[in-house]
Amino acid sequence: MHKIKHEIEVEMGMTTLTKLPQWVALQAEYKNCAQQSTRSLFRNDNKRLTHFSGAVGELFIDYSKNGVSEHTVELLLQLARARNLEQWRDRMFEGYPINFTENRAVLHTALRNRSDNPVMYQGKDVMPEIHAVNRRIREFSDKVRSGEWKGFHGETITDVVNIGIGGSDLGPRMAVQALEPYVKENLKFHFVANIDCSEVGHTLRQLDPHRTLFIVESKTFTTQETLANATTARDWLLQHSNNDKAAIAKHFVAVSTNKKAVEEFGIDPDNMFEFWDWVGGRYSLWSAIGLPIVLAVGMDNFEEMLDGAWDMDQHFRTAPLRNNIPVMLAMIGVWYINFHDARTHAIVPYDYYMRDLPHYLQQADMESNGKRITRDGEEVDYSTGPVIWGETGVNGQHAYFQLIHQGTQIVPADFIIPVHSHYGTGKHHDILIANFIAQTEALLKGRNKQEVEDEMRAQGLTDTQINKLLPHRVFEGNRPTTSIVMDRLTPHALGSLIAMYEHKIFVQGVIWGINSFDQWGVELGKVLAKRIQGEIADGELVNGHGQSTDNLINRYLKYKFEK
Ligand code: F6P
Repeated sequence: MHKIKHEIEVEMGMTTLTKLPQWVALQAEYKNCAQQSTRSLFRNDNKRLTHFSGAVGELFIDYSKNGVSEHTVELLLQLARARNLEQWRDRMFEGYPINFTENRAVLHTALRNRSDNPVMYQGKDVMPEIHAVNRRIREFSDKVRSGEWKGFHGETITDVVNIGIGGSDLGPRMAVQALEPYVKENLKFHFVANIDCSEVGHTLRQLDPHRTLFIVESKTFTTQETLANATTARDWLLQHSNNDKAAIAKHFVAVSTNKKAVEEFGIDPDNMFEFWDWVGGRYSLWSAIGLPIVLAVGMDNFEEMLDGAWDMDQHFRTAPLRNNIPVMLAMIGVWYINFHDARTHAIVPYDYYMRDLPHYLQQADMESNGKRITRDGEEVDYSTGPVIWGETGVNGQHAYFQLIHQGTQIVPADFIIPVHSHYGTGKHHDILIANFIAQTEALLKGRNKQEVEDEMRAQGLTDTQINKLLPHRVFEGNRPTTSIVMDRLTPHALGSLIAMYEHKIFVQGVIWGINSFDQWGVELGKVLAKRIQGEIADGELVNGHGQSTDNLINRYLKYKFEK
């Protein structure tokens, strides 16, 4: 039997974080190390790379360019132990309802359990159901990919449109893009998320209704944007099918936990792929929500992705904390966020196919750890989740990197790159890799006054010119980066990479004592939007929201109805 929430927490000892001696020790460490350069850490330890890097599956992770000494790491791990990290980790894998505000387990790891071991939830092994859904997904995707699945008018499917938002969009969208070189040539993929009619309109305009398959993905099947887009797509299909509802069964499938709502929408339950409430939306791409990925790259490749994630899960579950990559990345993050006051974290993939990774990780991290109330119901007196942002390198170098190099805030950054591009390792890739390495080197080392002065003298600049330019050309260095390198961007590597970030986010949530698995903060806007929608439908000028909001509504009404 699961213990109730209160018992778990008493056992887990959720003492106020900032009162812990381990926290106070880290504050002292920060003061002592304020002047210490990461360069000097390298000078003092000629094995630093070995000590501050690791490999999991196809990934090599080098976190040596972060400003932490062995002593800092020891203090960070003492903090992790004081927060009972290992026990929380075990509780997650064992299906305890650690998402206590929704009374749910957090078991996305069961979806990539590649062993024969059962995963028990409420006294029942969840694995048989997972395998059964995966078998159906394999069967269905094989039919669509081989052309055996025909549309209502007997045509083969050439285009797949995923309709979903948040976790029902970002994961599949990112992964289909990341694995583009594995995507079946005669199938094109489209993603419609926003309620903005331009998005669905723009997509439908390109499509042949007789050759299009829609996947409506929604955990709850109540999400307004998704249902509105799905309705528009269904109407469009019916318009082109003599209003014959039988067409829906050939062109619409659903992925959801809500069978009743799927049926009410008019999708045959035989065309529904199920998942479960213990899979959080932003952790759901491993479930049937991954259907677009399977249609794109095939079930075998999807299983490779699961294998990659499973490798990371095993590592996270068993490696000692000091060698545990997600733990180390999380604790280094805590070091920068809570002691150096870093407010943001950049994700910089040096890979065109990974261009949506920062967007995906924005939801994964910010919806998980953008919280200010602890498990005890107290307001935190420390920072929690950072703003996640980023853009592919080298594009970022020509845009926002200036701030990372010389701005006033510290921005820890993850640099991610495959050694081989899918287009070979020719001249382009050499230049790309050189830039990747050069940036992490520059961010680490910077350039001090003497170096800049010597360079300017060698260029023949006068003293006046040197004095004028010197301060602008000095780079402090000490800017933290983590390099994540893989041989190729394979499904396996992608699986490990995503799971690594998931566990990093989990660890940080444990340290901060927050529930990383709910998202109450997004509710208020939804409620207010419904109210305003009603007012717009009524068409009467409003007052009661306050000056600014009333004005925005009334302006819109004036434009709309020319009042
Ligand atoms: O509004 C936020 C959210 O609930 C996300 O957590 C979720 O991924 C998204 O909406 C979509 O929800 P659903 O899959 O139920 O449509």
